[in-house]
This record gives sequence, structure tokens and C-alpha cells, in this order.
Amino acid sequence: MGARIVGTGSCLPQRRVSNADLATVVDTSDTWIVKRTGIRTRFLLSEGETPSDLGVVACQRALEAAGRHPADVDLLLVATTFPDMICPGTSPFVAQGLGMRGAPFFDITAGCTGFVYALAVAEAYIQAKLGERVLVLGFEALSRVTDWSDRRTCVLFGDGAGATLLERGGSGQGILGISLRGDPDKALLLHMPAGGTRRPASHDTVEGREHFLRMEGSGVFRSAVPLMREAMDNALLAAHLEREAVDWIIPHQANARIIDAFADRLALPRERVIVNVDRVANTSAASIPIALDEAVRDGRIRPGHVVVLTAFGAGVTYGAAVTRM
Ligand code: ACO
Repeated sequence: MGARIVGTGSCLPQRRVSNADLATVVDTSDTWIVKRTGIRTRFLLSEGETPSDLGVVACQRALEAAGRHPADVDLLLVATTFPDMICPGTSPFVAQGLGMRGAPFFDITAGCTGFVYALAVAEAYIQAKLGERVLVLGFEALSRVTDWSDRRTCVLFGDGAGATLLERGGSGQGILGISLRGDPDKALLLHMPAGGTRRPASHDTVEGREHFLRMEGSGVFRSAVPLMREAMDNALLAAHLEREAVDWIIPHQANARIIDAFADRLALPRERVIVNVDRVANTSAASIPIALDEAVRDGRIRPGHVVVLTAFGAGVTYGAAVTRM
């Protein structure tokens, strides 16, 4: 008896920002960004908007799709790299926005792999009979931690939220296999130097622009394809399935070149790889559930389809889940 995805939802900010718009902020061009990343637009929060409000709407949409209400939720998990507040995180604000009363909630920090990690926790929670229904939200407001003077990173990211409701499923339904992995030797490939307890905020850290995300782009690029491949193959092994049995693959939407290299290396049929990074850019922990929701709502992913979700992210963490919809 596995946990089954019974509803999906997503929410993007209203403000759509093109590459041409970014070229007015930093020294870049639409040609460079499209060639190196495949990204054409991203959706960004406006000043004054509360990030977790996106998460509340995504959750409401997932609940509505499943015909459920916030009171039906036994656990809320929020996968996010940059919470509304370091303490108490994002999950209490989402629970409050949904009007949940009494059910537990917590954040999961596993970079862009956070949503896959959270699915594994949800599955285990349901298997352990600690609850019947778990709401899993992938949520990110990267524009708030992006250095808008650094052209190497600011062109890559977007904001957004994607949610799924999981319920106890019947035999052969729902999550069929999961693989979670990590490589702590790559901990600094993506990081924010200050603001945590290792280097608390000070005038120096602010002046040194240490509260923004830093990334070693080529290191991320080199690691991404082998790690996602390893995770996917292990998850399929756990599910006792061959790659041919997979209807859809949703890789983390970091960069179109990474997705292309991943598909090429594994000789995956391109029409089965779901891609929206061109439109929404890299939304970190939200990227997979947003792409999943879009493909469910436009009818590509249908009941019974086998879907692989595979990601890598800060930590570095990596992982994959195989699920029958
Ligand atoms: N516009 C114009 N020029 C740029 C830009 C930009 N936005 N960014 C960098 N450049 C310049 C550099 O300054 C450099 O110029 P120089 O040769 O005069 O010094 C030149 O372009 C090449 O820079 P590189 O960093 O070597 O460019 P590269 O081809 O490696 O592409 C990129 C950079 C796109 C970041 C690439 O390394 C990459 O795709 N890495 C993966 C990173 C990624 O996807 N991260 C996502 C977040 S991580 C995650 O989701 C888990």
C-alpha cells in the first residue's frame, strides 16, 4: 500500500520578467541566456508580496483538485531552501493561510531536491499509519536572495510554488520506488555565506553581499547529469521497473542544457521529458511540482501513467521518485 498523489496545484507570481527586461538591469542579452540556459522568462514576486501566499494558493488548488479541505490534512510538509523566516520557517505561515488547526507542519531543507525528499517523508508517514493524508508543498522565493548585480546567477531563477496531496493508495498505485542520496563534499557548490549561525548577519556581511545565493556554475553542471541518472536508475530498481515502462520524466528544471544532456545520455525519448524551464526558469524546490501540476492539468499526465521525478540541489542532495498516477 503506497501513498498516491490525488491532487496537484501550483501558483506563479503575476510579474513576468523577460530576458530583455533583465538586460536593462545587468550586462546580459536574450541570446546569451537562451543559448546557455534555455530560459526565456521567469515569474518574480513584486515588492511587498508575501512569499508564502504563493504556497497557500498552490495548496488550495491541490486540495480542490482532490475534493478535499484543509481540515482533511494530517501533515503539511514544505520543501523550501529559503523560508519566509529562518525561524519559524515557512510551514506555519502556509498552515495559517490554509486555516489548518492542530495538524503538524514542518519545513524540509534539501535544496532543489527538497520536493523529492518531502515525498519520501510523506510516503513513510502514511506507511507508518501516522496519518492518512499529507500535503506536500515545494515553494521558493529565490528572487529575494538573488544578487541582482550578479549576471552569472540572477538570470537563472524564478519564484513559484507547487503542491500535491498524497493519500493512502491501493496495491500497485502511487509511489512505487524512491532513492534519496547526498554528497556532502559538494556542500559549497551552492550556498549563502551569511545569515545562519556559522556567520550571523552583521554590517560586514551585508556590505560583502553575503546574504545572496552563490553558485559554482560549472561544478553544478558537471554533477547534475550523473547524479540525476544514478537517482533515477535506483528509484526504478526499487520500483522493479525498466526505463521503458516510464510514461513521463520530470527532471529538476535547472537549465535546458542540463535537461538536454540528461535526456541524451540516457537516450530518453524527448517527447516524454517534461520541460517548462524556458517559461518559469529554475524555481528550485518548486520546480518539479509546478511542472507536474501543469502536465496533469493540460492532460499530458493521466491516471495510470508512470512518472519519474528526479532532482539534484544544494547540499548536494539528489534523489528520484517513481509514481503511478
Ligand atoms: N550574460 C552574459 N554573459 C554572462 C552571463 C550572463 N548572464 N553570465 C556569465 N556571463 C559571462 C561570464 O562573465 C564569462 O565571461 P568571460 O569569459 O568574459 O569571463 C562567460 O559568460 C562564460 O561564463 P561561464 O560561467 O563560463 O558560462 P557557462 O557557459 O559555464 O554558463 C551557466 C554559465 C549557465 C551558469 C552554466 O555554468 C550552468 O548552466 N551551470 C549550471 C548551473 C545551474 O543550472 N544552476 C542552477 C541552480 S543549481 C540547482 O538548481 C540545483
